[in-house]
Amino acid sequence: MIPIMLMFILKISRLIHLKLSPIPPLLASNDEKHAKGAQQWQNTITGVGQRFSSVHEFRESLRKYAIAHQFAFRYKKNDSHRVTVKCKAEGCPWRIHASRLSTTQLICIKKMNPTHTCEGSVVTTGHQATRSWVASIIKEKLKVFPNYKPKDIVNDIKEEYGIQLNYFQAWRGKEIAKEQLQGSYKEAYNQLPFYCDKIMETNPGSLATFTTKDDSSFERLFVSFHASLYGFVQGCRPLLFLDSLPLNSKYQGTLLAATAADGNDSVFPVAFALVDAETNDNWHWFLLQMKTALSTSCPITFVADKQKGLKESIAEIFEGSFHGYCLRYLSEKLIRDLKEQFSHEVKRLMIEDFNAAAYACRPEIFQRCIESIKNISLEAYNWILQSEPQNWANSFFQGARYNYMTSNFGEMFYSWVSDAHELPITQMVDVIRGKIMELIYTRRADSSQWLTRLTPSAEEKLEKESLKVHSLQVLLSAGSIFEVRGESVEVVDIDRWDCSCKDWQLTGLPCCHALAVIGCIGRSPYDYCSRYFTTESYQLTYSESVHPVPNVDMPLEKDSSQVAVTVTPPPTRRPPGRPTTKKYGQQDVVKRQLQCSRCKGLGHNKSTCKVVEC
Ligand SMILES: *[C@@H]1O[C@H](CO)[C@@H](O)[C@H](O)[C@H]1NC(C)=O
Ligand SMILES: *[C@@H]1O[C@H](CO)[C@@H](O)[C@H](O)[C@H]1NC(C)=O
Ligand SMILES: *[C@@H]1O[C@H](CO)[C@@H](O)[C@H](O)[C@H]1NC(C)=O
Ligand SMILES: *[C@@H]1O[C@H](CO)[C@@H](O)[C@H](O)[C@H]1NC(C)=O
Ligand SMILES: [Zn+2]
Repeated sequence: MIPIMLMFILKISRLIHLKLSPIPPLLASNDEKHAKGAQQWQNTITGVGQRFSSVHEFRESLRKYAIAHQFAFRYKKNDSHRVTVKCKAEGCPWRIHASRLSTTQLICIKKMNPTHTCEGSVVTTGHQATRSWVASIIKEKLKVFPNYKPKDIVNDIKEEYGIQLNYFQAWRGKEIAKEQLQGSYKEAYNQLPFYCDKIMETNPGSLATFTTKDDSSFERLFVSFHASLYGFVQGCRPLLFLDSLPLNSKYQGTLLAATAADGNDSVFPVAFALVDAETNDNWHWFLLQMKTALSTSCPITFVADKQKGLKESIAEIFEGSFHGYCLRYLSEKLIRDLKEQFSHEVKRLMIEDFNAAAYACRPEIFQRCIESIKNISLEAYNWILQSEPQNWANSFFQGARYNYMTSNFGEMFYSWVSDAHELPITQMVDVIRGKIMELIYTRRADSSQWLTRLTPSAEEKLEKESLKVHSLQVLLSAGSIFEVRGESVEVVDIDRWDCSCKDWQLTGLPCCHALAVIGCIGRSPYDYCSRYFTTESYQLTYSESVHPVPNVDMPLEKDSSQVAVTVTPPPTRRPPGRPTTKKYGQQDVVKRQLQCSRCKGLGHNKSTCKVVEC
């Protein structure tokens, strides 16, 4: 038996090959071009005496044979024990007759005239390309690319087999293939117990666990790989972003995820869960699993929504941790909660002030920002005073957020998942696993080339700060305290890694004032940077690997002494019709990061994407 994953890879590579195979030169004959895809079917019919296990199988073989040989045929007889077929072309003598061997289901070819006198070109009109044939052709590809569009199906089948389908035929074929694939959705849930065991077996130290409801239907799944847990604890800032993504898959559910920021400010996936909906209970369960999986007692700063029970669950499960309320959710809620009516522009101004209040490092600046909101709306001002600013405003927040104010930091991870969300559950998890595996591998390889003390992103920031140093004047005060004069006057305590501008504490990297002092006393700036930005920490983050989970197929022979756990699919909840895609509310008011539709990277769009086309 070929392990499923290997089959998967073989199929993908075949598909990719199929997709990328060079377009044949225009002058190549049609025969040559079409023969390529259909070649494999040239001998599905061999002649008199050939046997088939059913009439159905015979019809299928005949269809493929006709495609390979590019002719159309017509049934003269077509019933459960007899099939007679002739070439559709007028006057062409090609014939075949097969019938059932008595007392069996077997069908045997009894007569065949294999000679055509026709040109055989009729096939390009696609009479043989029935829906189920289309379904069988596209099924494998549909597993990997669930968004395979009828339009592309038409093009690919034209390219590969020389058959022109119309849009409706392709659409029907896709529907049939989807129905056939549903068998694997059900099966995938049943494989979960086995699959979770496999993950923990191949990746020791990982946590993969699930729960079912009373009727043994799937409830939730949690997965965190050892490599992620280790990397987070050893190399990342103790900072976790919690967010969710609704999935529009068959058994519609929601992804919950915890991501971290690596020393180069990129996403580091730590754990994820598939649940039926984003509820208080599900977040609570997710955090309990996180707590079990993480072997650290170090206080963690969470950036997450305040609602959905997160406020209570975080405080209860991660005692002593900090919870920074996601600024995006908070400003969405502010706008939603206001009873007064405001114009779009006024709302935007309020959100701007609100953001400025959150970023402000000092209470007096915070106060100024919210006063400005008070002048627009007393209601908004009061809302803000009630909103626990100690959990979102820099000037009061006790944890270390490194200026990350929103929980959507892990967007790259969410886009991986939404690309795979139509797959059966175990395959989907395995696609995510594969992505994490590759990410870790690539970043480990990249960072092995780094010669700087800090990561490129941190070096860049330090460089930028140091450009401002020359305009500053340093005055000695007492002991480790310095006064730094520039546009403003700041006080730097070099031993306590503290500057009155608060940038140093907020970012973990010395601000220009601190750099001025460090230069003045002849020390190295590197001795004053948080260890999380060192290349060494970065390499530690990516030092452990995710291992392949080679065979996601359940063993066929169940050990009868073992009581097999069965997991059935959750009730499907997708409403009929076209699924709607997620929209974050108030998108127009609350600024979101640009995301490239091509490479899924953040901070740029398709027209400015620099990713090399492959
Ligand atoms: C031949 O018979 C099968 C089974 O009854 C049926 O599905 C199929 O559509 C028939 N084909 C033609 C061309 O009549
Ligand atoms: C708010 O209004 C008061 C007086 O109505 C004014 O003095 C103050 O400057 C305004 N503040 C802001 C930030 O606009
Ligand atoms: C590190 O950060 C730099 C600058 O932000 C970026 O260009 C680079 O792609 C990052 N490298 C990795 C491996 O994430
Ligand atoms: C991409 O972004 C640039 C500026 O960042 C903008 O000028 C351009 O219109 C955007 N293009 C698309 C297709 O959104
Ligand atoms: Zn400073």
